Amino acid sequence: MASFFSSALNETIKGYLGRYETKRSSILPILHAIQDENDWISKEAVQALEAEHGLSVVDVNEVLSFYTMYRKTPPKPYRLEVCGSISCWLNGADKTIATAKAHIAEAEKAGKPVPFECHKVECLGVCGYAPVALVNKDRHLNVTPELALKLIADYSKKDLPAAAKKCAADLAARSSKQ
Ligand code: FES
Repeated sequence: MASFFSSALNETIKGYLGRYETKRSSILPILHAIQDENDWISKEAVQALEAEHGLSVVDVNEVLSFYTMYRKTPPKPYRLEVCGSISCWLNGADKTIATAKAHIAEAEKAGKPVPFECHKVECLGVCGYAPVALVNKDRHLNVTPELALKLIADYSKKDLPAAAKKCAADLAARSSKQ
């Protein structure tokens, strides 16, 4: 039977399973690897971890529900994650977030959606450059509301990341089966 995961991802999963003393200890990095490839972690992926690699669904779901960094629903291709912790908050992070969210909502309303979602996150570790934000894994410093809008415009023109393309293809395949 074909695996739910790509062969590269299966090798990565096996590597983590062999690296730690217990299977449970390997759940965090395995979930990261799945999310890196698929852009999110579906129920099917969790079930496949049990069926193909012996990781208990209960244990995996416990980890998934505890950590907010794992995406449990299919995301937009780009995530603007703005730090809302103290230094960034004092330097206007809330305005950056509000501006980005309003822009995304207006674009949606106008029928010209942008491939972005925006979230507030905890300290990103470079507080001297507040407000700090990530676009997926790219870090951006001093992210004013104007820069947030520019980032949204610039990234929206780029080719979609591989994980986002895979996510879209998986969802299309899933809906064609229904
Ligand atoms: S408070 Fe924002 S990066 Fe630390």
